[in-house]
Amino acid sequence: MGSTFSLLGRDFEVNPMSALLTILGLWALRGIFKTVRLLMTPSFFPQFRTAFQPLGLPGSFLPTTSWTAGLDWNWHTRRARQSPLPPILVGPQAIWTSNIEVARQVITGSHKTSFYKPAWASQALLIWGMNLVASDGQMWRKHRRVFGPAFNSELYKLVWEETTRTYKDMIQTDGWNTKDVVDVPVAQNLTVKVLAFMVIASCGFGFESSWATPASTDGLLYLPFASFTEARMARDRLAAFMQAQIAERKVDVAAGSTRADAFTMLVKANQDESNKYQLDDEELIGNIFVLMFAGHETTAATLAATLGFMAIHDDIQEEVLAQIISVVGLKGEPQLEDYPKLDKVLAIFYEALRMFPPASMLIREATEDTILTVPNPPGEEGSQSVPISKGTQIVLDMVGAQYNPRYFENPAEYRPSRWYGLPAESELFTAFSVGARACIGRKFAALEATSFLTLLLRDWKIVPLLRDGETKEAWGARMKDARMVMTLGVATDIPVRFERRTHTG
Ligand code: HEM
Ligand SMILES: *[C@@H]1O[C@H](CO)[C@@H](O)[C@H](O)[C@H]1NC(C)=O
Repeated sequence: MGSTFSLLGRDFEVNPMSALLTILGLWALRGIFKTVRLLMTPSFFPQFRTAFQPLGLPGSFLPTTSWTAGLDWNWHTRRARQSPLPPILVGPQAIWTSNIEVARQVITGSHKTSFYKPAWASQALLIWGMNLVASDGQMWRKHRRVFGPAFNSELYKLVWEETTRTYKDMIQTDGWNTKDVVDVPVAQNLTVKVLAFMVIASCGFGFESSWATPASTDGLLYLPFASFTEARMARDRLAAFMQAQIAERKVDVAAGSTRADAFTMLVKANQDESNKYQLDDEELIGNIFVLMFAGHETTAATLAATLGFMAIHDDIQEEVLAQIISVVGLKGEPQLEDYPKLDKVLAIFYEALRMFPPASMLIREATEDTILTVPNPPGEEGSQSVPISKGTQIVLDMVGAQYNPRYFENPAEYRPSRWYGLPAESELFTAFSVGARACIGRKFAALEATSFLTLLLRDWKIVPLLRDGETKEAWGARMKDARMVMTLGVATDIPVRFERRTHTG
């Protein structure tokens, strides 16, 4: 039985059920139109015509071309995101965003939100056990509660001092102290060694070691560079080794150990009875391996890119040198207290990180139908609500965010002065992610970089190591592309030359 109403002098009979359906239908259509309109607005979500999803099969194995988006598609389109089609043709529904305010709604760490971090996004890190990076919800909370206290001022002091020691050890052992010019054909190899040394030998595990004779840990030092098959084959042996290490540390900690490496700190935080969260041994091992992977690939790649940028920006190098000399002097050693005063040194690292963000995408999925609040384009007030259906992937396009003109004037320009005078932990710097689930190793990486670069730049002038007849400009152009292998970094070898600064005598 319908009801009637009048419109323009005529009576209409309406079935309430169909009226309801029509209204719902229109409502849904309105939602779809709003979404399509939104997707067509370049500054909301990056656009790309693609035959396959970059995060599906076969998309993730294909290179980025004009018709398909590979894993590094966001790098290729970082400067021009104008194509009109939403990137959804095949595969699960996915939305990529380069907006930090949208990211904040998705990457919260809280188990009370409608988004979670899918395990497949961290699959490679799960072979050693559940860990902080791969977990979500209550599990994540537990791991973070143990990590929090482990990343403390004692650890940071050790990071700073060990980096200084590593630098001096390297200079001595590799004979730099007897040379005026040192050529390094692959800067990445140098920084990887420094970081592997730092993380695995000194600050991660606390093994006694030196640059010449890396800790005798049965190949452990080079494990992160081994292929996964090799790693898996070594798995059992290493698991036994780790088990023994944990047992040893538990005894040490109980006896009041003063060691401050991350491994010991984790065991200590885990033993702390006032902490109601506890990890089992397998989880501890999972986290130790994560520290090695998450910790040094990223930092090493960024440090190498920083050296590359210094080689082609003399003016910036001189400016940073002036700060280093005024804070540390011509001969002294940088102290941890100097860290806040070396903001220009940190800025050259942060800016390299902005331009080559190693964590190039952060992946989440909607656990239920929900709404995202998306700010209007720059210059327009307000925001729009975008309906998201359960199962949709939301990807923070980190490259897009770091090249987003909403946040950065002239984003394609290497300009460390953007960061001068800002606190090291400023949330304006977003390449370590934002909010409660941001990178827990941010300060760890920043300290390593600042301490190492301070000594290196004070004592050595970095210039490009040119090929025969190559100009500095051509060298610079070679360094401009990026490559994705687990993490994003400069695509080519970075060949640099270190020339001794005369003031160091
Ligand atoms: C330049 C260096 C680094 C960059 C760019 C970086 C970037 C990031 C980003 C973007 C995340 C968030 C990932 C996500 O939510 O999906 C993250 C998480 C994490 N990072 Fe880093 N990271 C760096 C260095 C380090 C270091 C040195 C360590 C350890 C010493 C570390 C340990 C971790 C851990 C354990 C997490 C997981 C945190 C959580 O989920 O609660 N990272 N990192
Ligand atoms: C740099 O490291 C790579 C990978 O380990 C190696 O193949 C290459 O020979 C190294 N190059 C130099 C010049 O040390």
